[in-house]
Amino acid sequence: MDILDRLTNREVLENRLAKKTPAVVIDAGKLAADLKSKVIGQDSVCDDIAAQIRRRLALTQRDKPVGVFMLAGPPGTGKTYLGKRLASALQRKLLHFDMTQYSAGAHSATQLFGAAKGYVGSDSYGKLTGGLRDTPNAIVLLDEIEKAHPEVHKKFLTAWNDGFITEASDGSQISTNQAIFLLTTNAATDTLQTLSITYTNNPDELRRSSVQALREARFAPEVLNRLDRIFVFKPLSGLDVARVTALEIEAMVNGYGLNISIGGVAVDVLLDLMERQEKLGASASARDLVRSIEDTIADTLITAKLQGHTMVELVWESGAVAARPVSSSEESITASSQKTQANVRT
Ligand SMILES: Nc1ncnc2c1ncn2[C@@H]1O[C@H](COP(=O)(O)OP(=O)(O)OP(=O)(O)O)[C@@H](O)[C@H]1O
Ligand SMILES: [Mg+2]
Repeated sequence: MDILDRLTNREVLENRLAKKTPAVVIDAGKLAADLKSKVIGQDSVCDDIAAQIRRRLALTQRDKPVGVFMLAGPPGTGKTYLGKRLASALQRKLLHFDMTQYSAGAHSATQLFGAAKGYVGSDSYGKLTGGLRDTPNAIVLLDEIEKAHPEVHKKFLTAWNDGFITEASDGSQISTNQAIFLLTTNAATDTLQTLSITYTNNPDELRRSSVQALREARFAPEVLNRLDRIFVFKPLSGLDVARVTALEIEAMVNGYGLNISIGGVAVDVLLDLMERQEKLGASASARDLVRSIEDTIADTLITAKLQGHTMVELVWESGAVAARPVSSSEESITASSQKTQANVRT
């Protein structure tokens, strides 16, 4: 038995220690820049969330989570992606939950909070209680929160209001004071978008009317009252779609164990993918984009890989994309000639 369990009340001690977190002052500008370099087209969200986190991490006395933030906006605009990038920028563990799995009712939450003694699953901790016990400062990403049952939402209220959650199997209280909760949603997207433009300079009114819009989308008032901030993501447009496309192409090329040369994506390749995306209409998401990229370039990449190449460029040939090998010497010539051209232009 742990000496603290034997000689004192370990739980109370842990809770008291968790409240006395040392002040951490982070560089909000650096965090925002880091996020903006990865999450395209959402600069104001990145600036805003970095500033919020800086203020909250600097508090030494805390009896609630560092933050409970709602990320709202259209599908495929980077909400889930921002959660992942934030965890990596802050070097915190990400506990990622797909909340569509908890739509059946309060009982579906046993996976998160554990099962009461005598019930199936009561021999181990829930995924959330166990996760926060092991990593109290995790980022908890509750993805598509509107899909979870309202009773499941309510089970989070002590986490956000009182700074702890209770593990059902043994009744122990797990602190949430060091955690950051990110909730993502597609609910009320259009209304929130309009409000964020209308009340850009009136944060109080923006908050009031955003809460109202989410309430109409059937979020319970006690859940909405507990949100520290609602961040509204913008639909991606113009060059930002091209930037996300280029990032996805690079990720896929790397995924097949290849590198892409500098200047190695022909404009026609990008334009073709962007046109496909446009044809899918306003509801098309970045996931559709990833599918299109896979359909268009995966086979030619596999061929290049099988032929033993390591560096490729993607060219447009007879109405299709082809991966052409680039030798490292060609690559450095291309890079230096591009640099020269850039210098001439400036
Ligand atoms: N703003 C963005 N910047 C960079 N990449 C993005 C951006 N938006 C989407 N992506 C890419 O598209 C993928 C899917 O985006 P993501 O899952 O973050 O969308 P979402 O906003 O959570 O959508 P949904 O509401 O449908 O869950 C990401 O993994 C990322 O690769
Ligand atoms: Mg998502």
